[in-house]
Amino acid sequence: MTDDKASTVLITGASSGIGRASALYLAERGCNVIGTSRSPARLDALRRDAERIGGGLHGVALDVRSDRSVSEAVESVIEAHGRIDVLVNNAAYGLWGPAQTFSMGELDDQFETNFFGAFRMIKAVLPSMLEHGGGTVINVSSVEGRVVTPFNGGYAASKFALEGLSEAMRFELWPLGIRVVLVEPGLFATDFERNQVVASDAESPEMPYGPMLAKYRKRRRRYDGFAKDPVRVAKVIHRIIRARRPRFRYRVGGEVTLGVLGASILPERLFQALLSRALMR
Ligand SMILES: NC(=O)c1ccc[n+]([C@@H]2O[C@H](COP(=O)([O-])OP(=O)(O)OC[C@H]3O[C@@H](n4cnc5c(N)ncnc54)[C@H](OP(=O)(O)O)[C@@H]3O)[C@@H](O)[C@H]2O)c1
Repeated sequence: MTDDKASTVLITGASSGIGRASALYLAERGCNVIGTSRSPARLDALRRDAERIGGGLHGVALDVRSDRSVSEAVESVIEAHGRIDVLVNNAAYGLWGPAQTFSMGELDDQFETNFFGAFRMIKAVLPSMLEHGGGTVINVSSVEGRVVTPFNGGYAASKFALEGLSEAMRFELWPLGIRVVLVEPGLFATDFERNQVVASDAESPEMPYGPMLAKYRKRRRRYDGFAKDPVRVAKVIHRIIRARRPRFRYRVGGEVTLGVLGASILPERLFQALLSRALMR
């Protein structure tokens, strides 16, 4: 196990949901946490949280879509704290709607935050990790990075890309003392749905998806009660940071295990029929 107190942990998207829960959970357990947000107001709220905990949590402005913002933030953290032991790539949002209705710009934005944002962070942090002989990169993926549901094609594509990148980098970085780990949460009670971007053409009467969207929305509401406390993900992230030899993938939530297992052992047509019935009929 590693010493919590020695760990400087940078978490992107720490203003809300899983990132916020993880920042507070780790800070309470003695990690030196740097939580980021694009918004000065949300950073202030994070700082107030830090005061309540009694320090150990610092807020830094960061937009993962900007090269300049990322390099300035990472430089300032290294200058102030000497190193970054753990990077948690958590910042992301969902693009929702039938794939045909996504504009090129909407899909581009989705990848810019969820995939290129994470890559930009890794590129910025790696030189310092290599200089200090090690570190851990935790990429927060999703059940949608393994099993895709209807109307989540853009979001799932960005998480599949993150999974693919992580698979390659774990081989490349492991001999250099850097661990790459994927966390795959199921359904958690956060602001994710509120922050979700609905494709501007999703509801267009010219598109043929209206009846399917209506059924999906009705079905989807049934699952709201299953959304779990994001602290569960925070605990998994804490476990990864403390593990001497963490696994590569951590699923969080029974529905992830069920989905991954179902997709791998059931005949494809049966799996498609079951998922359609659960979500669209
Ligand atoms: N909630 C779920 O059920 C669920 C399930 C599977 C996976 N996940 C994954 O868990 C992670 C956290 O999601 P959440 O559910 O906690 O969502 P959330 O409550 O909406 O929080 C998203 C965070 O991402 C930040 N963010 C968004 N765009 C950003 C950008 N361009 N630059 C920097 N920060 C940005 C936001 O910060 P600011 O707006 O303050 O900048 C916010 O703190 C995501 O990777 C998501 O894909 C969530």
